Formats: sequence, structure tokens, C-alpha cells
Amino acid sequence: MEKPGNLILVIFGASGDLTARKLIPALFSLKIQKLLPERFAVIGCGRSVFSDPEFRTKMKESIIAFSEEKDPDEKSVDEFVESISYLMLNNEKLPDYHKLREILVERTKSMSIVANYIFYMATPPSMYSVIAENLHEAGLSVQHDGFRRLIIEKPFGYDLESGRELNRKLHEMVDESQIYRIDHYLGKETVQNLLVTRFSNGIFEPLWNRNYIHRVEITSAESIGVEDRGGYYDSSGALRDMVQNHMLQMVGLTAMEPPSSLESNSIRNEVLKVLQSLQPVREADVPKQVIRGQYTGSTIKGECVNGYRYEKGVARESRTETYVAIKFYINNWRWGGVPFYIRTGKRLPTRVTEVVIHFKKTPHHLFQRDSIARTSNQLVIRIQPDEGILLKFDMKEPGAGFNVKSVNMDFHYRDLADIRLPSAYERLLYDVMMGDSTLFSRDDEVETAWKFVEPIQKAWAQNNDIKIYGYPAGTWGPSVADELIEGCGLTWRYPCKNLAGDGDYCEL
Ligand code: BG6
Repeated sequence: MEKPGNLILVIFGASGDLTARKLIPALFSLKIQKLLPERFAVIGCGRSVFSDPEFRTKMKESIIAFSEEKDPDEKSVDEFVESISYLMLNNEKLPDYHKLREILVERTKSMSIVANYIFYMATPPSMYSVIAENLHEAGLSVQHDGFRRLIIEKPFGYDLESGRELNRKLHEMVDESQIYRIDHYLGKETVQNLLVTRFSNGIFEPLWNRNYIHRVEITSAESIGVEDRGGYYDSSGALRDMVQNHMLQMVGLTAMEPPSSLESNSIRNEVLKVLQSLQPVREADVPKQVIRGQYTGSTIKGECVNGYRYEKGVARESRTETYVAIKFYINNWRWGGVPFYIRTGKRLPTRVTEVVIHFKKTPHHLFQRDSIARTSNQLVIRIQPDEGILLKFDMKEPGAGFNVKSVNMDFHYRDLADIRLPSAYERLLYDVMMGDSTLFSRDDEVETAWKFVEPIQKAWAQNNDIKIYGYPAGTWGPSVADELIEGCGLTWRYPCKNLAGDGDYCEL
């Protein structure tokens, strides 16, 4: 792989968790793989007081604690942190940006590089437009002598209006092509592999449509609760936190038409078309098509687990959803009439993200048996963990008669010897350095995704009669979500009923 051109990366919010846990370890991994620019520097900015050596020590500790490199050797870590410095900066004070500019000019000269700068906003979202404005005022957003790129993290607004407003404000300062909106799911190797699986194999694409596919199911389950993010999460909920971004991006990649090239906009245009074709869930249909849940206290493996309302930072009367399942359709030629089911939740029995393509049954049941009548082929694309692909199909059990058995053809990434899956941040940081925005959400994608969730947000906000179902922590969510799946006897790959906790629920 090619090395990016020389540049300086400025991180705002550098004393925070994201920088320590994800960004610096990812940059270090890129360094080990020789994928950092030949001349490269990081300037961390934040309100905390650090000298350069103190900040380097902190970054060194974070590499040792969080790096995905096995036993990073101390010499390489020391060498790497030498490229990092720190500037105390108040995001809201313009004079601080003038100081930043002086440092950048001086560093650009001493490194003898072109003035290529990337600004990473590892800050609360309320700071995005403030920082962009100050960068602009300080003359740091104009690309006359090198590129200027801005990286921001979700949430990109909290509804359609605020999402649009954020885009509008950013566009006053910078061009859309300078903005890289991170959706870390797009940085996952297996999410990208959705494209390769579909478009580099001749065997799947002919079947990838309403004629052969019965339904599509996407699950993103987490076993953890909200941990120490209760404050943020309580004003967000699963719909904003996971569906508007990660889940809908996965829908986009699963359902899109083949792009004409691998060029960034060519792929993003196709994802956008899918999002534009999502049949809006009418407010009146929200109770039927959208199930929301909230975990209640329970015992998991002998350990008592708090209900959501007893988590730190969460209101005791909270009606924020920690689980959501949605049934919807995509109104286009390929997918007309095929139901899509997506669900995500916290405190489910396990951590798993997967896309399941359920194929239609054969038109004639030659081998009539109850158990067989229920089987159909499935292609399971396992995004995480145990990344891989599984094809379920029927075969004859050896012996007399025609006993049919469902078997698995299984591929696991881990079987590819010597292959380490790069972390999402590694991939995404590298792509920004290369100027490749394929794996980043574009303004129109973000707004269209907000448009889809808006009627759900409105219905929940305006109608307190819409139920929020409690589900015991450690179960597959409210069992009423099983009823979303159309068709007699059909259910999720991991149904709420019949598994841990039996989907026992009470209404909140
Ligand atoms: C984040 C959400 O975007 O994604 C978190 O804010 C969630 O609430 C996380 O836990 C899940 O990411 P991953 O990579 O662990 O599936």
C-alpha cells in the first residue's frame, strides 16, 4: 500500500478518551506498517495543562494499554511519540487558533513539507461548528498552499433539522469535499467486504433481489450496557446512536446497486439512492413496525445487573430505548416487497453484528417433512466478532430414504493465517490522509438517514401511549419483536423467545 503524502494532524480534544484509546494506537499501528507519511507530526490540542514530554508519556501509556500490535516494542513507541506535541487551546478562543497557526507555519517550515493539515475533532459535537469557524477565522481552512481536511465523529445532529443545520454551518467554512464524517462501522473490514462479496463474485448478485430473497435481517447486538455513558445515551437512545448511522449504512451497502467504479462518490451515490428509497414508516404505523425496549435489572451468569434506569447518569423515569427493531421496505425495482428487519440493542445475550440474507424456499417441496418445510437457505455475513461468512444449505443425510439436513459452509477470517484485521480507525485515518472519502458519510446521506428516522422520533415524542417494552438484561429483547417478522413460524436468526430469558417482558 502507498504511503500518504507528508502532513500534520491536529487533534482537538486530545486529552480525551477517543485520542488515547483509538486515535493514537491506530496511528502507531499505521507507523508499524509503514503507512504513515514520511514526514508526519501530531499536534494534540486541549484545555488540560501538559508539557510536550508529559503528553508524550500519556500517549505512550495509551499505546501500551490499547494498541492492537502485540507487545509493541518500546523503541518504536518512543520513536513514534517523538512526533507528537501538545498545545493548550480553548476551542472557543480565536487567539488560541492564531497561536496554532503560528505553530503550524513554523512546523511546516522545519519539516520542509507542503502545508497539508488534517483537523480531527475528538470533541463534543457542540464544538464542531465552533472549531470550524475559528479555524476559518484564523485562515486555516482555505486550501491555497496545501489541503485542509476536517474529521468529525457522530452524532451529526440529533434530528433532521439539527443535522441540516450542522451541515449548513460547516459548509459556510469549508467545502463538503474537505469534510470526513466518521461512521466507524464503515471502517470495519467486514463491512467493506459486503461490497467485495457482492460485486466480485458472479454467484451471489444474480440472486440478490426480490425474485430470490425472502427477507433481509440485520442485527447489531451488544452484551454491554451503557457503562459510563449514561448521560450521553439517555438523550440519544438506540435509534440515534446506532440506527441513524451504522445500521442504515449497512442497509445501504447490502441493498445498493453495483457502483460504476470504486470512486468515492460513485459508491456513496448508490448508498444514497438506497436511503432515498426507504419507505418511510408512517407515524401511525410506528407502533406496528417499530419495537422499542429498555433493559431491566436481571441476573447474568450469577451476577446482578442493573436495569437501565439505575445506570449512572440515567433518569429514573427514563423512556429512552436501549433496544430498537424496525421492519421496513425499500421502494425500488430490486427490493419491492422484500421486508428488511433491523434491530440493535444493549445488554443482549452476546455481542454480534451480522447481515442475514434469507433466500426464498424452493417452489416445490419435494422432500416433505415438517422440519424441512421450515428451512430455507441463508447467507450470513458476520461483521463481528468471529468475522466471516456462512452459507446454510440442505443436504441429504447419508443412509436410506431422503432425510434432509441443514449444514453450514463456513469461512472465518481468522483462518487466513497471518492476517490481522486492521482497526476501523487505522483504516479511516489512513483514508483521510490519502484523501479517499469512500468510507465516510456524505452530507446528503446523513440528512436522508435522519429523514427516515424522523417520523419514528416524532411518534415516540408525541405519543406516550406507544409502548416501551422492558426486557431483562441478557435476553434478546422484547419478545413482541418476534412478531415483526412476517410469515408463519418465521423469526429472527436469534429469536427473542426460546433463548435465554424467554423474552419475558413487562411494559414500562
Ligand atoms: C458507537 C455507539 O457508535 O458504536 C455505541 O455510540 C456502541 O453506543 C458502538 O456501543 C458499537 O460499536 P462496535 O464497533 O463495538 O460495534
